[in-house]
Amino acid sequence: MLRFLVLLSSLLLVCGSSVCPCERPELCQQVHQDRDFEVFVFDVGGKTWKSYNWSMVTTVATFGKYDPELMCFAHSKGARVVLKGDVPLSYIVDQTNRTAWITEKVNIAKSQFMDGINIDIEQAVEEGSPEYHALTSLVKETTEAFHREISGSQVSFDVAWSPKCIDKRCYDYVSIAESCDLLFVMSYDEQSQITGECIALANAPLSQSLNAYDQYVDLHIDPKKLVMGVPWYGYDYPCLNLSQDGICSIPKVPFRGAPCSDAAGRQKPYKWIMKQLNSSTSGRLWDDKQQAPYFNYKDQTGQFHQVWYDDPQSICPKASAVKAKGLRGIGMWNGNILDYSDEPVARQQTALMWNALLGC
Ligand SMILES: *[C@@H]1O[C@H](CO)[C@@H](O)[C@H](O)[C@H]1NC(C)=O
Ligand SMILES: *[C@@H]1O[C@H](CO)[C@@H](O)[C@H](O)[C@H]1NC(C)=O
Ligand SMILES: *[C@@H]1O[C@H](CO)[C@@H](O)[C@H](O)[C@H]1NC(C)=O
Ligand SMILES: *[C@@H]1O[C@H](CO)[C@@H](O)[C@H](O)[C@H]1NC(C)=O
Repeated sequence: MLRFLVLLSSLLLVCGSSVCPCERPELCQQVHQDRDFEVFVFDVGGKTWKSYNWSMVTTVATFGKYDPELMCFAHSKGARVVLKGDVPLSYIVDQTNRTAWITEKVNIAKSQFMDGINIDIEQAVEEGSPEYHALTSLVKETTEAFHREISGSQVSFDVAWSPKCIDKRCYDYVSIAESCDLLFVMSYDEQSQITGECIALANAPLSQSLNAYDQYVDLHIDPKKLVMGVPWYGYDYPCLNLSQDGICSIPKVPFRGAPCSDAAGRQKPYKWIMKQLNSSTSGRLWDDKQQAPYFNYKDQTGQFHQVWYDDPQSICPKASAVKAKGLRGIGMWNGNILDYSDEPVARQQTALMWNALLGC
């Protein structure tokens, strides 16, 4: 009997028709309708998705282990669930390898009743190189295959906060935007290449973040193809020295040609930040120039740290700009890192973060 079941399930896999894991079979049907305002959530695993504000969520990109329960639930709320796509570009320069990769992804998506793919290639690429052209083709061919094989499916591509070769990602942004359904603009990690003084700065300063959308639009990329990504995490920097006026100098950690980088700090979830704020030496401070909150604390060894992050006050004007600039929507890295416990303070902080996505 067991052998028979194993045989049956492998036959089903081969034929690409797996068994629907949902209570109601119609929940395995892919989502077709687009909603006006996209709220794009990256999910990195676990079960906290149960506490998302599902009245807003339109797409969940699953970067954790595939969870059929999440797929069924998202579909019951009319939200798409999309696969993660990443591959070394040197490998898919070869057309045969590229096609094989795409076919594999389409088959996985189909067998898991998913609604598309989010392509997350954050590799350095030189303009005009074989990898540059391969990437452009990859996005085009992936979109064509998904649209053909899974009707109504969505293909998105993650881009850096600005199209100006950030972290040496010199991609053909215009062609990529044309061929896929949307670009998720990662408006964070904006200190990955610090060229000035090596000091702690905001993860996503307001005007720098917003100006970069104008750069994308100036390339004639349709604003309706752009989803603004905001960080639900911040950076905790150990300070070599914390000056009288609160400047935290950070160790020199070079990155892709720049002498220092946010790699000198550690990424911390909003949940951790809210707890740490309570034991800060400074209380919550606000930087007017960068329009971002930060605070200082002392660790057990006596060293000072400076933490830069985003909260409802810094996210609000970004979310409002999404509407003012006519962008497709908003999203975050990542959905899981708020405090979803039953504790009243946490519940309120979490609700405010979700609500900030809709603007002030
Ligand atoms: C294509 O895929 C094969 C098998 O995985 C690999 O060995 C080969 O290096 C790839 N070709 C190129 C040009 O990268
Ligand atoms: C550290 O900060 C203090 C106070 O602002 C300053 O006097 C001192 O020169 C700084 N030291 C270094 C090594 O930067
Ligand atoms: C922080 O401290 C305040 C006041 O002491 C308290 O009400 C709150 O619950 C604490 N928050 C967290 C996240 O620990
Ligand atoms: C969820 O979002 C909606 C707006 O789409 C809002 O009205 C509602 O209050 C939010 N729910 C919670 C629990 O915050």
